[in-house]
Amino acid sequence: MQELVLQSQQRNYPIFIGQGLIQQQHNIQSFCTGDKVLIVSNPQIASHYAESVKALFSDKTHHIYLIAEGENEKNLANYSAILDYLIKHQFRRNDCLIALGGGVIGDLGGFVAASYQRGMNLIQLPTSLLAQVDSSVGGKTAVNHPQGKNLIGAFYQPHAVLIDLNTLATLPQREYISGLAEIVKYAILGEAKILELLQTNTDKIIQRDPLILEQLIYLSCAKKADVVAQDETEKGARALLNLGHSFGHAIEKISQYAQYLHGEAVAIGLHMAINLSQLKGMLSEINAEQYHQLLSNLGLPQKTNCCKKPAEILDAMLLDKKNLNHKYRLILPTDSTCVIVEEPNNVLLSQAIEMQITLD
Ligand SMILES: NC(=O)c1ccc[n+]([C@@H]2O[C@H](COP(=O)([O-])OP(=O)(O)OC[C@H]3O[C@@H](n4cnc5c(N)ncnc54)[C@H](O)[C@@H]3O)[C@@H](O)[C@H]2O)c1
Repeated sequence: MQELVLQSQQRNYPIFIGQGLIQQQHNIQSFCTGDKVLIVSNPQIASHYAESVKALFSDKTHHIYLIAEGENEKNLANYSAILDYLIKHQFRRNDCLIALGGGVIGDLGGFVAASYQRGMNLIQLPTSLLAQVDSSVGGKTAVNHPQGKNLIGAFYQPHAVLIDLNTLATLPQREYISGLAEIVKYAILGEAKILELLQTNTDKIIQRDPLILEQLIYLSCAKKADVVAQDETEKGARALLNLGHSFGHAIEKISQYAQYLHGEAVAIGLHMAINLSQLKGMLSEINAEQYHQLLSNLGLPQKTNCCKKPAEILDAMLLDKKNLNHKYRLILPTDSTCVIVEEPNNVLLSQAIEMQITLD
């Protein structure tokens, strides 16, 4: 087992990473100081892992709250219903909510924990690769609104994160590959060790080699923890973690969240960011090519047919809440790191998008 500590103003907390952690007795229990735990999950994930999680907290009274599967469930109705449940069962602030699932469960459960009695104990137990390398760490919690994703939420750091790689065994392959896009993002942000591991072990990674995966998850969480420690509430450096995401969110939105998984849309967005950087002369051809190659070698999509013209993506990007004052605000890779660029040249931006549009 490996352990990292994320240091933030709200609290410092451990991130435990290893194989079989939910089956082992473990000091995770110490993060639940009350006498009750509420496991929030969905039926499929709970069928695999809820019993182990209950055994892990064997000295507590267990409750389990299941929501249906899917992004649409990250909504205010479920948020409110879970709060009703906590009130009805007289949970206290030092009781613990355990978010057992992917990013949907983590974001929803996290927001409930953030607001119940002004903040209750929260353990993130991520079971998708995306959640293990990204959403469970760093304290962003949210639900969606009909007008847009993640419009209602809070920064609320968990009290601990328990990443058990063995839970990935039941994750569908498409979801798994989609999660790899966020790991590539850390590589392009300048994490040379991640880049090297991805490039030299591509086949093993696709086959979920646990030793390589453990290293990748550890390095990804370490990078995220480092950035969050510098900028907990995204006033500056944390925005770099949105590399590829402005494009990706626009692609998801245009395709009505039905065609692409989050990581797949981010992968296409990464290609667009790489194109733009190269067109602007900020990224060498050799580095651009190795990033494009890596994304496609991992089996991530390269092109989108979500629209015929770049203008549709540009319009959707302007609505992204990460844009300040209705200007495009993009993260672009350079040869050693990434930088924030505002209002980039619109002609080049259109060209960079068009290179990844296919009419097929
Ligand atoms: N808070 C953040 O910092 C942050 C960062 C990135 C993404 N997100 C959010 O995360 C969400 C996407 O997360 P996701 O990709 O994990 O999607 P998800 O939570 O919908 O999980 C993907 C699918 O995999 C299934 N699943 C998850 N773990 C499984 C397992 N071990 N075995 C079998 N099935 C499993 C889920 O039931 C679901 O069908 C989005 O809502 C996004 O906005 C949040």
